[in-house]
Amino acid sequence: MHHKVSFCYDHSMAEAHTTLVAPSILSADFGHLADEVRRIEEGGGDWVHLDVMDGVFVPNITFGPPMVSSLRRHSRLPFDTHLMIVHPEKYISSFAEAGADIITIHYEATVHVHRVLSRIREIGKKAGISIVPSTPAAALAEILPELDLILVMTVNPGFGGQQLIPRTLNKVSRLAEMRNSGGHNYLIEVDGGINRETCKLAIEAGADVLVAGSAVFDSENIEKEINALKCR
Ligand code: DX5
Ligand code: ZN
Repeated sequence: MHHKVSFCYDHSMAEAHTTLVAPSILSADFGHLADEVRRIEEGGGDWVHLDVMDGVFVPNITFGPPMVSSLRRHSRLPFDTHLMIVHPEKYISSFAEAGADIITIHYEATVHVHRVLSRIREIGKKAGISIVPSTPAAALAEILPELDLILVMTVNPGFGGQQLIPRTLNKVSRLAEMRNSGGHNYLIEVDGGINRETCKLAIEAGADVLVAGSAVFDSENIEKEINALKCR
């Protein structure tokens, strides 16, 4: 059994707080995923980031709950599930049963975001919301108390290996300010184009969790790469 994931932004520890790295298996070898998630754990990855794509919300297709459930047996790390799918409400319980710990839906994928987020918490999982580059941070203003995680897409979702769009980091700073002024507890995660250079900008802007696909899996040494991304 994997450890139950518990997290919450600690305002009193804001300065001391270390950045987490969530390697994305989107850039891993899909023929050897069990080994790849093991490599993430051995290399010091904090979470496993699972990119679920339906070919409708984004122009690419990856995998669904059965894959998550098969991988669950090979890792004790929290499974950070990023649902890039339409009608996320239909699949929340399947992903929860498959072993997802954090379930992140897209703000742009459903009108009833509040209902879906409440459902994720009701079934005992961490609730995350993601915004694409064109969605402003202010769109989340009314649902901040319902959130355990905000995933700011720093590229347009769909593919690994793209370049970070610098403007998106302004939203990270904005969401960190909104957390301070409102006393909220969500973590802020960035996803897309994170590498040894851009990680510094993301951390400076206030990111708590860095997703990295190609940077981690194209590297010679996963452990070294993860440490470099944490700026340690
Ligand atoms: C893109 C996915 C990302 C992707 C990031 O839609 O959400 O998680 O794996 O890949 P890199 O780190 O290569 O930009
Ligand atoms: Zn992702």
